[in-house]
Amino acid sequence: MGVLPLRAAGAEKTKIGIVGSGRVGGAIGAVWVKAGHEVMFSSRNIEHDKALAARLGAGARAGTPREAAAFGEVVMISVPYGSLRDVGKDLGDLIKGKVVIDTCNPFPGRDGEIATWAREKGAGLASAELLPGARLVRAFNAIGAARMGSAHEAPGRVGMPIAGDDAQAIAVASRLIRDIGYEPVLIGGLVMGKYLMPGTALAGERTAEEIRKIAATLN
Ligand SMILES: NC(=O)c1ccc[n+]([C@@H]2O[C@H](COP(=O)([O-])OP(=O)(O)OC[C@H]3O[C@@H](n4cnc5c(N)ncnc54)[C@H](OP(=O)(O)O)[C@@H]3O)[C@@H](O)[C@H]2O)c1
Repeated sequence: MGVLPLRAAGAEKTKIGIVGSGRVGGAIGAVWVKAGHEVMFSSRNIEHDKALAARLGAGARAGTPREAAAFGEVVMISVPYGSLRDVGKDLGDLIKGKVVIDTCNPFPGRDGEIATWAREKGAGLASAELLPGARLVRAFNAIGAARMGSAHEAPGRVGMPIAGDDAQAIAVASRLIRDIGYEPVLIGGLVMGKYLMPGTALAGERTAEEIRKIAATLN
């Protein structure tokens, strides 16, 4: 598999642990591998993750969620919101102090009561409560998984709205987002994470400029 020409030569190779290797985790993880990062995929189905890693070749590996959380300098959590409390409990000691990218969206129909609570609180603040101590950045929340692995075909054309409270975590996540072709746009702190969901004004594929204009109208 060729390495994407996205990461500048000599740019930092990062170890990324992915918890939830479904449509989103699989797609984003695959392009991070192509971009030259080291990615460990995990879920509750190690056979699925081993097969995924084998397809992606060097740079990809499989492990348990705890192994992925320990492996990653950065961890991306991409599970149904209904699993997020368990994931927070299972991985709490490992993700404390780590940069964690949260793609998870609460849908009451799929996830039950926790999604209703998360929507009332706002998804960014709710995820922070479920993943205490993680240096959380919300990203990849409102673009369809089928398109997620294609931004590198026209680097910088599609903006990626993100939200977080930790400047260093935002910088790290922004670099990884740029590495796979998106232009990250910080729309605010985790309190603004409630806008990073399907069905909001920021959902869908937009340029960075469009995202900035829309974000300026939100509070
Ligand atoms: N699909 C989209 O277009 C899209 C776009 C943006 C954001 N999102 C959000 O991103 C998250 C992931 O979406 P998705 O479409 O990728 O879902 P998905 O295809 O159903 O994948 C979910 C992954 O999480 C794993 N998982 C579930 N519970 C787990 C647990 N307790 N511990 C470890 N792994 C667990 C699943 O594997 P096992 O069940 O085998 O463990 C699977 O690998 C969701 O919150 C979704 O709302 C989705």
